[in-house]
Amino acid sequence: MLTLLLSAALVAATPVLREDNIPEIVSMMTLEEKAAIVVGGASRAFDGIGRDCDPVKGSAGNTHAIPRLGIPFIVLADGPAGLRINPTREGDEKTYYCTGFPIGTMLSSTWNTDLVEEVGRAMGNEVLEYGVDVLLGPGINIHRNPLCGRNFEYYSEDPLLAGEMAAAMVSGIQSNGVGACIKHFALNNQELNRLHNDALVSERAMREIYLKPFEIAVRKAQPWTIMTSYNYINGIHASESPDLLTAILRDTWGFEGTVMTDWGGGYDTAAQVHAGNDMVQSGSDRRYFELIDAVKEGRLEVADLDKCVARVLKLIVKSPRYKGYAYSNDPDLTAHAAVCRKAADEGVILLKNRKALPYKGNVALFGVTSYRFIAGGTGSGDVHRPYVVDLKQGLSDEGYELYAPLDGFYTEYMKDEDWRCRMIDGNNSWVIDRERPIEIVPMDLIASSAKEAGEAVITFGRVFGEGKDRDLYHSYMLQSRERELLEAVSSAFHKEGKKVVVILNIGGAVETASWRDLADAIVLAWQPGEEGGHTVASVLSGAVNPSGRLPMTLSMRYEDEPSAPNFPLIYADKPFNYSFYRRLENNRKDMSVKDIDYTEYKEDIFVGYRWFNTFAKKKIAWPFGFGLSYTSFRWSGMKVKETSDGWEVTLTVKNTGKMAGKDVVELYVSAPGKDMEKPKRELKGFAKTSLLDPGCSETVTILLPSGSLASYDEDSATWVTEKGRYTLSAARNASDRGIRKRIRI
Ligand code: GLC
Repeated sequence: MLTLLLSAALVAATPVLREDNIPEIVSMMTLEEKAAIVVGGASRAFDGIGRDCDPVKGSAGNTHAIPRLGIPFIVLADGPAGLRINPTREGDEKTYYCTGFPIGTMLSSTWNTDLVEEVGRAMGNEVLEYGVDVLLGPGINIHRNPLCGRNFEYYSEDPLLAGEMAAAMVSGIQSNGVGACIKHFALNNQELNRLHNDALVSERAMREIYLKPFEIAVRKAQPWTIMTSYNYINGIHASESPDLLTAILRDTWGFEGTVMTDWGGGYDTAAQVHAGNDMVQSGSDRRYFELIDAVKEGRLEVADLDKCVARVLKLIVKSPRYKGYAYSNDPDLTAHAAVCRKAADEGVILLKNRKALPYKGNVALFGVTSYRFIAGGTGSGDVHRPYVVDLKQGLSDEGYELYAPLDGFYTEYMKDEDWRCRMIDGNNSWVIDRERPIEIVPMDLIASSAKEAGEAVITFGRVFGEGKDRDLYHSYMLQSRERELLEAVSSAFHKEGKKVVVILNIGGAVETASWRDLADAIVLAWQPGEEGGHTVASVLSGAVNPSGRLPMTLSMRYEDEPSAPNFPLIYADKPFNYSFYRRLENNRKDMSVKDIDYTEYKEDIFVGYRWFNTFAKKKIAWPFGFGLSYTSFRWSGMKVKETSDGWEVTLTVKNTGKMAGKDVVELYVSAPGKDMEKPKRELKGFAKTSLLDPGCSETVTILLPSGSLASYDEDSATWVTEKGRYTLSAARNASDRGIRKRIRI
């Protein structure tokens, strides 16, 4: 009886976690329980609690539950293009497909933050309704080099565009009461040796370029979580850096959320906790015991551990799972497919159009990718989609008639190719180098289709992803079969006075200069998600007037890229595997191989158009911010008004063409550049019009905060705004002079 009373008393005395009693709960926790909260659920060492949680099948990770304190586990799942969980479950006839949205690079190509927020709302609703608490996205690293294998997940070469897209996506996701996770913090700009590569970068380039998207997202949208990257930064691992995670992220930017490692990221668990990296995901027994030993041996202050525990508990009490949300497992995938379509429609970039589009006649459809459209990239950024609409289906649904003999040929050929690819990849959905169908050149059908079909459409595809960077020859350049196909189709159709349209269904920049003259139109469709074929068909027919703009520069040759001299080329004489890493004994970091063990960011702040506009007299293929329309616009009446916090720029856009369309105004600023070296111009704002009917106008407003003109001065470790005369250019792209006004500071 006494025991019963005692245990009842004990139970009554033990508080349960609430939003307002976290410090009390932390003070009640044993060292083992604290370690179990910090180290992810993949660790089974802490008896019992790790085992009883049954997270959503296929989710990426979870935290441990501590029932005696009323602490539930929460569930973390990928990824930036849509929720990634298993589509089927053992013994369950229900399915759990998730909408495959356009890739990050395509969302930023819309230059429409309202639309990206709408995508976030739909994506976040699937996170909520499938019982997940935090989505491990968006990925917002800078496109430093076109060969980075994960660029498809990321937004841009420009920090402002990337940051604004990130803030919009985070706000959309979190409007559902679930968490977002901006990643990978920071300078994860290559995949080769990603677990050990040391990014050597100046403080100014770090602040102005590589950290800036994270800063904008934190200040504007307060993501619940942030994920540290796998790499080192100037010799210190990102997840072990007090500077990065406490001084900058929390003390300077005011981040209020929770920091987690990338999966298995970092090495010294005690150093991670000391730095302010709150969760060690996905967790392991080694990490768990390391943490406990570090505290017992006095190598880690309990106070540091308590801070991290408190921030994890603060995340948990915000979660739907803590609040007992009764998730339906039945989100509205049809409604979300419509959002996916709408976003993809606005992300398509028309690079070239010599009176070839819009076109509604009979189409000769070439290219294996036309029949197997690529919805997104590989790795954790992939999604288990309910379907993918390829271009053949998209064109048919749009009412196009396909040249039958060619359609029949490819349909048969693709059956064999599907089988061959499946034999190579198996059912493994996580394939770093997914086998693609081999391009073919049906010469006889090219000749006949040129006579009988109205226009040729050829799709070239590229798919890549996490864990590997792209090969220059096999991925960035056009393949010989592809070039052969394009040359044969181009000469046959041009002889008949007919047009050739190239569709690029790719996850990142490719070389275009050497072949673009063979095509009359080039449509950059990126990886548009599950509705891809419908989106491209709508653009070809004119049902959708393309309004996308390039979020990166397309250079004439890879060698012109500013980072090319300091980026690993895998085909070179380095027989490294893709996650190659080298550790010397006693964990000392090896720094012997350039671009592998360490990468020097020698181009500094001059990334992308900042380089090409300022230094490279070399031509570029297409400039940052470029994109054509089926209609035309005239800009007038640019005004600049000083406000309490900077300037307000207004400009009137008029549709002077025959089709309704949307336009994008890009605001670039050129600083005096006397006190500090500055790029010739930098994007400091942008605005997209609503759909303007022919003859209609809209006045757009772009706010230019005074702080946005500052540069980071390393000597004083502060942001300084140079005095003098600044030129504001409202332009169509980074190379367009645009309409100019001057301001003086
Ligand atoms: C991966 C990725 C990260 C992902 C995590 C969970 O290694 O780097 O982006 O969210 O692990 O899958």
